[in-house]
Amino acid sequence: MYIKYIILYQILMILLFFTEITPLVEFTNIKCTSFDKKYNDFEYCRLKSVNRSFKYMSLKVNLYKVPITKVKVNFAMLKRYSGYKPFLYNITVDACKILKHPKSNPIFGFFHGLFKKHSNMNHTCPYDHDLVVDKLPTSFINQQVTGALSFPHGDYLFHSDWFAYGVHRATVDFFYTLS
Ligand SMILES: *[C@@H]1O[C@H](CO)[C@@H](O)[C@H](O)[C@H]1NC(C)=O
Ligand SMILES: *[C@@H]1O[C@H](CO)[C@@H](O)[C@H](O)[C@H]1NC(C)=O
Ligand SMILES: *[C@@H]1O[C@H](CO)[C@@H](O)[C@H](O)[C@H]1NC(C)=O
Repeated sequence: MYIKYIILYQILMILLFFTEITPLVEFTNIKCTSFDKKYNDFEYCRLKSVNRSFKYMSLKVNLYKVPITKVKVNFAMLKRYSGYKPFLYNITVDACKILKHPKSNPIFGFFHGLFKKHSNMNHTCPYDHDLVVDKLPTSFINQQVTGALSFPHGDYLFHSDWFAYGVHRATVDFFYTLS
């Protein structure tokens, strides 16, 4: 009888342990779209699996009208049911203002923190060069997100719209699964 309880207790602890370390973020796709190829264009935009444990994202945007001093970003999270539906976040920010005062928007700060160490988008405006995210390991994002967020399992889309001088210039979509 006693032994049975000990075994039950151990099974419970193992289950709790696995509950704690979920969710696991698995990136499945990344999609970049430019709406005015004379203004900006994506040289590349890819998710690459090197092997089972190493997957990374890289993207490069060529900017043809620099310097840029006014940038607005709308980012929204969507969850897939029958089609993607808005889920929790839909925020528009003045990126130049926030880069100057990073603490003014913790949510933007969190997302910027996910890629700024692997990117040259790591300074205040103006931007007078092409933008690069270089081999951002998805495991790094996984580490940052695990524990910080607890969302239901499922397929998600992190959608971002980029505006310069009030004009919609580009969209970058990240598709991922929480399991
Ligand atoms: C996966 O690739 C990375 C980079 O080439 C390498 O450092 C790592 O050892 C590889 N892992 C496995 C399990 O092969
Ligand atoms: C976010 O909100 C804006 C303004 O309400 C809306 O136009 C836009 O479609 C929303 N984005 C998503 C992805 O739902
Ligand atoms: C920003 O990124 C560039 C390119 O990766 C790097 O050379 C530079 O030192 C970084 N600057 C800051 C303030 O981190």
